[in-house]
Order: sequence, then structure tokens, then C-alpha cells
Amino acid sequence: MLRFARSLYPLILSVTKNDPERGHQRLIQTLKKVDAMHRHGFAVAMEQLERTFTHSDLRLQQSCWGLNFPNVLGLSAGCDKEGEAAAVWPALGFGFAELGAVTKHAQPGNDRPRLFRLPQDQAVLNRLGANNEGAVAMAAKLKRTWEYYPRTIPIGINLCKSKITPLDQAVEDYVFSFQTLAPVADYFVVNVSSPNTPGLRSLQESDELPRIFAGLQSANHWQKPILVKISPDLSWEAIAVIIDLVKEHNLAGIVATNTSTRRSGLKTKILPQTGQPIEEEAGGLSGQPIRDRATEVIRYIYQQTGGTIPIIGVGGIFTAEDAWEKIQAGASLLQLYTGWIYGGPWVVPDILQGLGEKLAAEGFSHISQVVGSE
Ligand SMILES: Cc1cc2nc3c(=O)[nH]c(=O)nc-3n(C[C@H](O)[C@H](O)[C@H](O)COP(=O)(O)O)c2cc1C
Repeated sequence: MLRFARSLYPLILSVTKNDPERGHQRLIQTLKKVDAMHRHGFAVAMEQLERTFTHSDLRLQQSCWGLNFPNVLGLSAGCDKEGEAAAVWPALGFGFAELGAVTKHAQPGNDRPRLFRLPQDQAVLNRLGANNEGAVAMAAKLKRTWEYYPRTIPIGINLCKSKITPLDQAVEDYVFSFQTLAPVADYFVVNVSSPNTPGLRSLQESDELPRIFAGLQSANHWQKPILVKISPDLSWEAIAVIIDLVKEHNLAGIVATNTSTRRSGLKTKILPQTGQPIEEEAGGLSGQPIRDRATEVIRYIYQQTGGTIPIIGVGGIFTAEDAWEKIQAGASLLQLYTGWIYGGPWVVPDILQGLGEKLAAEGFSHISQVVGSE
């Protein structure tokens, strides 16, 4: 039945095109129902998802920071901002899931409309502004989830600064969320690269960044892997400085990349929902337009570090080819979001199957041999 639904997916996309945020809320509600049914003894929906979307291939398993990833393809931050569907992501075939962004304080995010699809460009523009219920609420939700479900894939949490917290007090904000959520997740990502929290990206190039890393590591009694997520719009010099800080503070890796504020080369000139030129619309661009830049950033980090720092590669992955390119450039793990919106959930097993075929065609026996192999 779910295979048949694939032919209807373009219709779902077109019905939700004018209000993608509402479409997204419906999706999360549906996944929550699958979870609720399972908890009430009706496992049929979860099992149906598993049968349709999981793709098991030992060659695509990855091991990083002492964690076992059943496959290299994860859900990127921003899709499940409050961890509401944490129990269901494994059934949709993901090898790991990054929840959030979460902030210390609950916050409503920016005014609507704040999420737009740019189908001509296979892109999304978002200026959600880290809308979430706060770290305490998320921790309670995840605690309840793990009381019922075993954790079958690594779960990451994307940490962001609350809008109301001044930039020079960012450390305390990140540390609070980290300490609150450390018991219920496997790895953490310091998000200093979202364009939708005023001033946040300036942290990437300020003296606050080493203080944030130091604060988190000294609070890290759990010895959780802590990564930093960077913007595709940084200069090579700024990325080099961040690499040095990552080494100095013993961070576990780098997530490359977040969304971009650049608008060059887009086919979409006017945003239909607002009637404004795309250059004048605030927000972060994701999907196909950032694919090559994200890969360049991955390649640069891999080359600068000689492959010693694990990279989660993200940005514009739609196909197995896109995924392969990022692994060859140096990514040990991958994430996607926009490609999943446009292609539907079938994209995950398609990409994993394609990666398996590439391995055989190129004469590799395991995906880890491909990392940085270009
Ligand atoms: C609607 C939306 C919300 C996002 N929210 C977050 C977020 O809260 N934190 C974060 O680090 N990245 C966020 N991102 C960025 C994604 O995690 C990812 O880095 C980026 O979209 C590039 O990947 P993609 O091209 O596969 O979407 C968001 C992206 C989208 C499209």
C-alpha cells in the first residue's frame, strides 16, 4: 500500500505547497499516531513502515565515537524539532536522527509564513527561528519514549541559543540544554550556524565560540560526543579557525553544512506566497542549490584534518550519487532533509540501495573505505 502511495506523493506535495508548515505539522501528527498505536498494542502501522522503508546492508553500517549506526544516512536537524516522532525515525529507514534545534527557553519562532518550497530549484527557504518547547519539555518527552522503546539508532540533539539570551551569555544557555538532555541522547551538535536566530552566526567567528566549547566539555560528565555545525557561507579562513578550535577542545566532529543566506543562481525570482523578490526574503536556503558548496566544505575539512575529525555531510542530498560524492569528499556520515521532502520517504531506501550498488560497482567491500577516497 505504501509503495502504491508513492505514485500519489506528487499530489500530496502539490496540496501542501501553499502552506508547507501545515503539511509538516500533519506529517508529525501522523507519525505520533503510529507511535501511539504501537504503545497501545497495534504494531501494524510501525511494522508496515519498517517493511517499506528500512534497507539492511551490513556494508553500510558505520561506527563512530563508540556508537553503532545501522546505516550512514541520518535525518537532519529541523524536521523533528521537539523529538515528537523520535520512536518512528528508525522505521523510516534512517541510520540516525538529529532532533531539535532545542533551546533553553521555549520560544514561538518567527511570524508566519516562514517556510517556503522553491520547487523549480529543488530547494526550501526557512526562517522558522528555532520554534520549540524548550530543553526541559524535550527531555521529558524523550525519557518517556526510551522507557517504552529500545534506542535502535543513535539519537543526536541540535542545541541552539535561545533568542532572548544575549550572545555574551550563550555559554550558559547551551550548557543548560546539554545537561538537561545528556541522559536521553547519544550525541550533541552545537548549532552556531542557523541564519534565523539574530546574531547566532556571528558566534562562529567570535571569542564566544571557544568559551562555548570549553563550557560544554567541562559539563560533559557523560563524555557524550559533541560536534559543531557550520554554515556553508563561511570563508576558508574562518573554517580553518573552527577546525583548530575543534581540535583544541577535543570536539567529536563537524556537521557540514547548515543552510545558506546566499541567493545567487536561483531560478525562483519572486516568492509566490509573499510576492517579494527572493533576494529580499530572509531565511536559510537548503536543498539542491547548496549541494556543491556543502561538498566543497566537507572536502576542505577532510583535507585540512587529514581525515582525523569525523564529518557529518549534509546539504542537497537527493540521490545515491549525491550521497556518494559527499562520502568520497570525506563525510563519514550523511544527513538529509530537503531531499526527503521532495522525494518522500522512499528516498532513504533508494539512496541506501544505490550506495550498495555503487560499492559493488567500484570494488569496495565497506562504505568506510570510500570516506575521503576521491
Ligand atoms: C525547515 C528546516 C528547518 C531547519 N532547522 C534546523 C535547525 O533547527 N537546526 C539546524 O542545525 N539546522 C536546521 N536546518 C538545516 C538542516 O538541518 C540542513 O543542515 C540543511 O537543510 C541542509 O540539508 P538539506 O539540503 O538536506 O535540507 C533546517 C532546515 C530546514 C529545511
